[in-house]
Amino acid sequence: MSKMNRNDLCLCGSGKKYKYCCINNPSSIQFDIQKATQNAWKFFEEGYFEDALKLSDQILTYVPQNLLISYLKGLIYLKDGQIDLAITELSMIHKKAPPNPELLTNLGFAHHEKGSLVLAKTYYEKAIQLNPSYINAYYNFHAILIDENKLNEAVDVLEKLISYHAFDQDALFMLWMIHSYMKNDKEAEIYFKKLVDALPLIKVRIEAWQYLKSSSKTLPKLTGSIIETFKLALDQAKVKGQVLEFGVRHGNSIQQLAKLSNQTVHGFDSFEGLPEAWHEEAKGSYSTKGAIPKVGSNVSLHQGWFNETLPPFIKENPSPIRLLNIDCDIYSSTKTVLDLLAPQIQSGTVIIFDEYIGNLHWKEDEFKAFQEAVKTYQWAYEYLAFSFFTKQVVVKIL
Ligand SMILES: C[S@@+](CC[C@H](N)C(=O)[O-])C[C@H]1O[C@@H](n2cnc3c(N)ncnc32)[C@H](O)[C@@H]1O
Repeated sequence: MSKMNRNDLCLCGSGKKYKYCCINNPSSIQFDIQKATQNAWKFFEEGYFEDALKLSDQILTYVPQNLLISYLKGLIYLKDGQIDLAITELSMIHKKAPPNPELLTNLGFAHHEKGSLVLAKTYYEKAIQLNPSYINAYYNFHAILIDENKLNEAVDVLEKLISYHAFDQDALFMLWMIHSYMKNDKEAEIYFKKLVDALPLIKVRIEAWQYLKSSSKTLPKLTGSIIETFKLALDQAKVKGQVLEFGVRHGNSIQQLAKLSNQTVHGFDSFEGLPEAWHEEAKGSYSTKGAIPKVGSNVSLHQGWFNETLPPFIKENPSPIRLLNIDCDIYSSTKTVLDLLAPQIQSGTVIIFDEYIGNLHWKEDEFKAFQEAVKTYQWAYEYLAFSFFTKQVVVKIL
């Protein structure tokens, strides 16, 4: 989006294409808006979501019907984890704009993240109908099929994807992984050979799957969404005890957990972002600037740094832990949580890690903190589930 195209919606907000609208009569304000629009997209692409959002809102005060900018707002919300706002914005555009596969896929993904899988699937299918070579829709769609236990169909969808983009490494990796999971060794080998020169991120994912496979007597369940991972984890969490989440941010995961768990869910977060840099991500990333999300009546939030809020909480609530959702990304925060809660983590406790596998540095983050705790507290454990789509892993203490 560096330059206004003839076929883009006109910046004046008429909803008509630029070539049928102001193309012959661009006023100075349109010129400014064009620059501002370019800048807003640039901010977004470079990850400056706050600036991108501010500029988008400014543009919308001049041209409230600018669907391209409203779309950008939807994308910012989606990338920033503000899923409800993303759904509102993208749904509004979906009603007003001509059908568009990219929009449909992003709207589908927002519902996927929110746990509305039927809706997500419908949007992915519509996107594929509109553009049968739109790879993002196929990629997201395969994850829904995984949740439906239709692994062969997930493979078909990924194969369709690579029939359009033969070198898509995400799809090739998933094809290798799913075939290997299903013990289709011959097919797995074919895809593995295609990953010889894979990007570093794909290489570490290969290692992660090899590790998970070799450390599990029974293969853990494969999931394709946050909500299915939660359902499975809660189903297996039979200990009478507390449900806690570390890393709440805008509340997407805790709201889903709370709806599924039929008990109070305690959420802990500074709402000031990461306490230290996390590889390429700066200290303070994922901050809500202290804003606390609106949550349901069975959610209780504890604002502050874990090492300050958790000790007094434990004093008041020393009972066993039924389920922990650890979504605080970094090694030190995960270690704090596991060390402080170790006396309450018992046989049967289920722990969901949100960034256990799938990142470039996965072995230095939540994985490392958990493996150290296993040694220190002599926990035996088994992997119950994993997802290379969400990066979650579920473990049960034995
Ligand atoms: C990835 S976000 C959580 C996302 C959230 N679960 C969701 O569904 O969108 C990570 C959160 O962990 C919090 N966090 C990380 N380390 C922390 C610590 N030591 N104390 C308090 N909060 C922490 C950050 O403030 C941030 O909001």
